[in-house]
Amino acid sequence: MRPDAFFEEELQRLAAQGLRREMRVVDGAQGNRVVIDGRSVLCLCSNNYLGLADDPAVVEAAVRAARTYGVGAGGSRLVSGSMRLHHELEESLAAFKGTERCLLFNSGYHANLGTIASLVDDGDAVFSDALNHASIIDGCRLSRAAVYVYRHADAESLERLLQRVPARRRLIVTDSIFSMDGDAAPLHRICELAEGYGAMVMVDEAHATGVVGENGAGLVEALRLRGRVTVQMGTLGKALGAFGAYVAGSAALVDFLTNAARPFVYTTALPPPVVAAAASALAIVRNEPSRRLLLRRNGALLGNGLRHLGYDVPGPDSHILPVMIGDPGATMRLSDELLERGVLARGIRPPSVPEGTARIRATVMATHTEGDIREAIAAFAATAPARPAELSP
Ligand SMILES: Cc1ncc(COP(=O)(O)O)c(C=O)c1O
Repeated sequence: MRPDAFFEEELQRLAAQGLRREMRVVDGAQGNRVVIDGRSVLCLCSNNYLGLADDPAVVEAAVRAARTYGVGAGGSRLVSGSMRLHHELEESLAAFKGTERCLLFNSGYHANLGTIASLVDDGDAVFSDALNHASIIDGCRLSRAAVYVYRHADAESLERLLQRVPARRRLIVTDSIFSMDGDAAPLHRICELAEGYGAMVMVDEAHATGVVGENGAGLVEALRLRGRVTVQMGTLGKALGAFGAYVAGSAALVDFLTNAARPFVYTTALPPPVVAAAASALAIVRNEPSRRLLLRRNGALLGNGLRHLGYDVPGPDSHILPVMIGDPGATMRLSDELLERGVLARGIRPPSVPEGTARIRATVMATHTEGDIREAIAAFAATAPARPAELSP
């Protein structure tokens, strides 16, 4: 068979199921408005939660770093690429997270793959929430440990598995704020179980870093669980507006991963402008808590507005609001209609979410104005599917 014939057949199969994905070209920065096909539209699907991706101070830090250090790191961290900027950002992140040390990775995907595959191996067991991010799932697969999936955010389901499964080393791994649902893991209970059953805990703070907690350090900070979580992973490409990821924990963990995590060892270090941008964004996260308040306000405004229209938006409100539709085709039609009405809000379909739970994943930013949120609600109002008659506008 011609290779292209296979590719085309697969694409047709995906299209027939309403699951074929395509990219849209976005012009301009990731602001609250972006330009698509020459038209300015409201952006309701970026992870640039705090508006830092195009913040002037962050951009300036990147430009200055490019002028001073160049655009590329030139090698892996263990060869020539470990620049002072990397070490300084690691120290700032460790202080931010309240851990002994921190290690940068080139993306959250790399961090999860490298960390999980280093912590557990053949003969070990990993316990993973059913709605964990794909990079956690892939890290579990790569590790060769036996994988036990517990029901989403269900500590009892986790405990039943912990009781049943003997293993040399055990790792519990979970998103803190779930990427597609915006809800929180029961971290308090998870830490108690880990202590009771002798397991390590790894928490992925990709969608909580910069956003949750008094200082924006994440859910572990908010729940005062520092010291009880073995591994705190987070990303620099979402609320921090840059790119890359970190793993924070003990000095021994960081030294171990520096030696064992292949996605750390065998790749070129993060580029200096990216590292400088992340460092500048981190300072803003610490110094400007008002951004977190605006983000929370916008999440609540949009969540309430959509529910009033009759949309199924499971709470609690956060910066990530899943507008549940169910059918992939209907989800994508809604996404297209919203774009026609000037709102970019992408549909999320299986395999990114479980079968039957296709949704619009609406995300708010601190830089959205109340007017922006009203505009988004008006676009949803014009396209609202079968909503209760008394709530119809
Ligand atoms: C929970 C979670 N973990 C990890 C990642 C991967 O992070 P990155 O985009 O930096 O690869 C993402 C997002 O893509 C995520 O949502």
